[in-house]
Amino acid sequence: MREPFQNEPFTDFSITDNINMFQEALRKVELELGREYMLKIGPDRIETTTKRKSINPSLTKQLIGIVSQADNELAHKAILAAAAAFEDWKRVTPFARAKVLYKAAAELRRRKHEFSAWLVYEAGKSWAEADGDTAEAIDFLEYYGREMERLAERQPLVTIAGEDNELVYIPLGVGVIIPPWNFPLAIMAGMTMAAVVAGNTVVLKPASATAVIAAKFVELLEEAGLPDGVVNFLPGAGNEVGDYLVEHPLTRFICFTGSREIGLRINEKASLCQQDQKWIKRVVAEMGGKDTIIVDEDADLDLAAEAITASAFGYSGQKCSACSRAVVHELVYDEVIEKVVERTKLLKVGKAEDASTYVGPVIDERAYFSILKYIEVGRTEGVVVHGGSIGDSSGYFIEPTIIKDVAPYARIAQEEIFGPVLAFIKAANFDAALDIANNTEYGLTGAVISRNRSRLEQAREQFHVGNLYFNRKCTGALVGVHPFGGFNMSGTDSKAGGRDYLLLFTQAKVVSERF
Ligand code: SER
Repeated sequence: MREPFQNEPFTDFSITDNINMFQEALRKVELELGREYMLKIGPDRIETTTKRKSINPSLTKQLIGIVSQADNELAHKAILAAAAAFEDWKRVTPFARAKVLYKAAAELRRRKHEFSAWLVYEAGKSWAEADGDTAEAIDFLEYYGREMERLAERQPLVTIAGEDNELVYIPLGVGVIIPPWNFPLAIMAGMTMAAVVAGNTVVLKPASATAVIAAKFVELLEEAGLPDGVVNFLPGAGNEVGDYLVEHPLTRFICFTGSREIGLRINEKASLCQQDQKWIKRVVAEMGGKDTIIVDEDADLDLAAEAITASAFGYSGQKCSACSRAVVHELVYDEVIEKVVERTKLLKVGKAEDASTYVGPVIDERAYFSILKYIEVGRTEGVVVHGGSIGDSSGYFIEPTIIKDVAPYARIAQEEIFGPVLAFIKAANFDAALDIANNTEYGLTGAVISRNRSRLEQAREQFHVGNLYFNRKCTGALVGVHPFGGFNMSGTDSKAGGRDYLLLFTQAKVVSERF
């Protein structure tokens, strides 16, 4: 019997040996920077003339890799390759499919720091954030493998005399996987392999900014024995091949994580029935967030400040779960701001490669200028009490920025910024704080810091988010422990890393035999 699922432990970077091993991994990966990466369609590696450079956001002149870009013709080939592979892969037993995930997890565990080092270089993740991303990828592989085994046991049905009934979960077909750049290993691997372990075959269109990490994962899958054609690797521009893949009549489902804007666009395009299309396409979308931490009047204010700081500025606020609004009871408002500013001053902004960095760069030029624009908007909507400036011009550095006295419906209180920008909003009482927390179109994560049981219970019922946390930060959901995903414009209410997730990639078939 397989041992029960357990989360992969995080690396303790206070231990010298771990620091040395991580540094060694960084050096190893540095020697591999700048290589070329090709498409993979069926068994074929394909080089194209259109290429995209992936660069290090901490040091924009440093090339991470050069990635071939697909056009629509190649996208069509990739869908056909996935459709051909589906005929075999769907017949492989769920247990054998799960073994590929376990093997990939074992290999990833062996090469943990190496993959984390790629995350440092290509995604600008601090060591701890990179390590968390790799650990989560391992978790998804181990968890979804076990989940498939559980589903293979079949749903118990009510028995009736003279008849044998069974319900089996069968795969859907060809899926298009469009993952985000902010968890370029964990979420990419989780989305891809949930679909694959359920018996589907996919075309993986990686996020352009982090395509090299995805390419490395696809290589690892090959080593783990995944048959050709099950995962086809197809980097390309979202508004060209992305749309084409979504619209293709052989596409059965689309699994997307990213912005609200693109999620809605995919949903709209997928809803149109194309010629020769035989099904209603299923869309699984995880979109944005505008997440709030509420601080009650009787809260432990140090705990509150710690939770807010970590949730707002971990990975430079580039998480859909990040706290971008702190809604604080007026009686403790000034004190909480003071404590958050105090802590934020201690966070080191710098290159992700440096062990002491907490706030690395933002992902690319577009994000950089968009975030800076929001900071300018914030200056007109509140008072900047910390940050607001850019860092070293060798990369996309932005200081963690705290803006107080923001109105509940101000732009920076409503729109997803996806950067290190935190708005403080004052609330007259707890009811008002909950109203503010629920006043956006999103509903992903949230937290309440309070010692008052009845208020926590009130929030349990009224705070409308998919992942609600009490007396802790609102980021860092663990696979299996905190199934993750939100309401309203935060997506299609799916729960990654939970028991319901694989069902999104299956359909149930009932066979009844009269005896
Ligand atoms: N799952 C991540 C978190 O909880 C966000 O995608 O922070």
